[in-house]
Amino acid sequence: MKDLLTKGSIPILLGTGGVGKTTIAAALALAGASANLNTAVITVDPSKRLRDALGLARLGGQPTRIGARQLAAAGLDPHLQLSAMMLDVSGAWDAIVERFVADPATRRKVFDNPFYKSLTAEFAGSEAFAALQRLYDLHQTGAFELEVVDTPPASHSFEFLQTPARLIRLLDSRTARWLFTPSLSASRIAMKVASNAARFVVREIERFAGSNVLSTITDFFAAMAESMDGIIDRLQKTEALLHSPAVKFVMVTTAEPDRIRQARELLSQMGAEGLKLSAIVINRFLDEKTWMAVADSGARPLSHLAEISELRKSIARDGADANGFGRLVHHFEEYRDRMLGEIERVAEFARELPKGVRLAIAPEIEAGVRDLAALSRVAGYVMSGIGMLKGLEAAAKSVVEMGAGNSDR
Ligand SMILES: Nc1ncnc2c1ncn2[C@@H]1O[C@H](COP(=O)(O)OP(=O)(O)OP(=O)(O)O)[C@@H](O)[C@H]1O
Ligand SMILES: [Mg+2]
Repeated sequence: MKDLLTKGSIPILLGTGGVGKTTIAAALALAGASANLNTAVITVDPSKRLRDALGLARLGGQPTRIGARQLAAAGLDPHLQLSAMMLDVSGAWDAIVERFVADPATRRKVFDNPFYKSLTAEFAGSEAFAALQRLYDLHQTGAFELEVVDTPPASHSFEFLQTPARLIRLLDSRTARWLFTPSLSASRIAMKVASNAARFVVREIERFAGSNVLSTITDFFAAMAESMDGIIDRLQKTEALLHSPAVKFVMVTTAEPDRIRQARELLSQMGAEGLKLSAIVINRFLDEKTWMAVADSGARPLSHLAEISELRKSIARDGADANGFGRLVHHFEEYRDRMLGEIERVAEFARELPKGVRLAIAPEIEAGVRDLAALSRVAGYVMSGIGMLKGLEAAAKSVVEMGAGNSDR
């Protein structure tokens, strides 16, 4: 993971809802700052605790440096250069229009236009992409050596990387502008639509237009006529930045079966699209205590799971299920099998990863990631590699051999 946190690199975190993108983004940023890089983390909708931990409670939209006192209180080097900012994803497109459309009356027209509304709200990844305009701005200032970027939750979390190309093609096409110039009557448009050149545009318009009538679309193009070149130029530059080698995509997932399945899908989709994933972080994998037991060579890492098997044996031996003890043990057994299942799944996932995709893991922090100290521990885990996975797998095997794994995993 250290390779990702180098001067000039821009890790962008991807992943489905609630897996820990924002948390891991902040942790990676902290790790970057600890590696002496002047670092900024761009977060989307951080939880209240994280916002407080990062000192974002008051200032949001501008990078805010984390204070020396806060760092020292968490046992960190007070000289770390770490800034955080919060992105308002919902207003991102409006901000672009505000910037490029100078005339207030025209701006109003654009904002009120139903086609604009569906264009910006309904296509997948639109918000994420618009938000990345802020990354572009920040990057242009050259104020930071490392920019770690969080993204909003999405089920197809890299769509925002592809959709803009389509959008640019659409907005930029001469056909679109020509088709939707106000001077043309609707009937003439209908006629022209039949032409080959217009087919692509019409298909795309249909995707974005929803139930909008043609007149709202022509109004949109008319209002945007003067600013369109500026906006398209801007979209293209952001596109180029997103596809530059500086950008490193990092997928965050948890170890649950459906999340691992989604991670596999994302991985293969990205591969098919020619997008390179740099790393995967499996978050909330087991708990810190188990991790420490693995690290401690004197300890028997999963002995608590092995003991559950012993409990079952002792019930069988004594031949009695006094006071519903068996049901309680059954509950423990389910827990044990879930843990063993997670270990097996993650170990298998690690083995099948394509070459060049790094893997990192972070355990569940029992009290939650509520302050800088906890964030710093997460950073430590993510940066320490996956060496412990082998030890865990071996320990899990021996638990299974001792007779676990009877119930379904
Ligand atoms: N390793 C961890 N240990 C304990 N709690 C965690 C861990 N990682 C994340 N969390 C908690 O899980 C919740 C969701 O995390 P986070 O907000 O980072 O996820 P997200 O992927 O950014 O969510 P969204 O998709 O909604 O943006 C938060 O309350 C966070 O504190
Ligand atoms: Mg988030």
